[in-house]
Amino acid sequence: MTAKDRLIVALDCDSEAKALEIFAKLKNDIRFFKIGLELFSYCGPRIAEKIMDAGAEVFLDLKFHDIPNTVLKTAVAATRLGVYMFNVHALGGYDMMKSAFEAAATEADTQNIRRPKVLAVTILTSMDEFALKKIGVNANIKKEVLILAAMAKEAGLDGVVASPHEAKTIREAMGEDFLIVTPGVRPGGAKANDQKRIATPLEAVKNGASFIVVGRPITDAQDPAGAARQILSEIV
Ligand code: C5P
Repeated sequence: MTAKDRLIVALDCDSEAKALEIFAKLKNDIRFFKIGLELFSYCGPRIAEKIMDAGAEVFLDLKFHDIPNTVLKTAVAATRLGVYMFNVHALGGYDMMKSAFEAAATEADTQNIRRPKVLAVTILTSMDEFALKKIGVNANIKKEVLILAAMAKEAGLDGVVASPHEAKTIREAMGEDFLIVTPGVRPGGAKANDQKRIATPLEAVKNGASFIVVGRPITDAQDPAGAARQILSEIV
């Protein structure tokens, strides 16, 4: 795997024009782009189509979390859209995850199209144990993440989104074929923003991350392509 196969840039912005402007600056160096809730709420699926039409891959990071039937139908829509990967919240439960995975697989089979990879979000990288306590969850983050990752694997999912700090334990417990996508990645000296459990790109990969997600350190940079290339050079 090359560095380019591991870096996903989060296109978190508030208009199609801004997203496409950053995309244009990055498309020669970057293969994967992440569309999250903000951009999707502004632009809808059209922005994913535009990025895919230009030859890049899309990780649809909408973190589905609803009753199994609703998530199942949404998984069908994401599969038809043709994205490389989408995700659901593991906290939505086993049945919800299994419905999402099976719906994507069946739809891809029926339409004879690629099945998107389906990931589960374990615990958001912006949450620490104190934040969990506040919502009444008195759990050890590492243990909780492992419980959720194991449940995702049992439900058939391809992998999880998790903090780089949990990547090593997840890799050891789930084996080599399980995808681990880690946001909360900051090159040395970059601002943490609202991320609490951060690591450098190289630390994340060494800990077993299959993909790293980087947003603001690239998209807010004066020279986004330069910032992206710097990160790519750090993870080889
Ligand atoms: O700008 P930054 O590098 O913090 O962007 C990280 C991206 O990863 C954001 O789009 C955020 O929504 C997403 N993400 C995250 N933690 C998760 C799952 C997704 O930060 N557990």
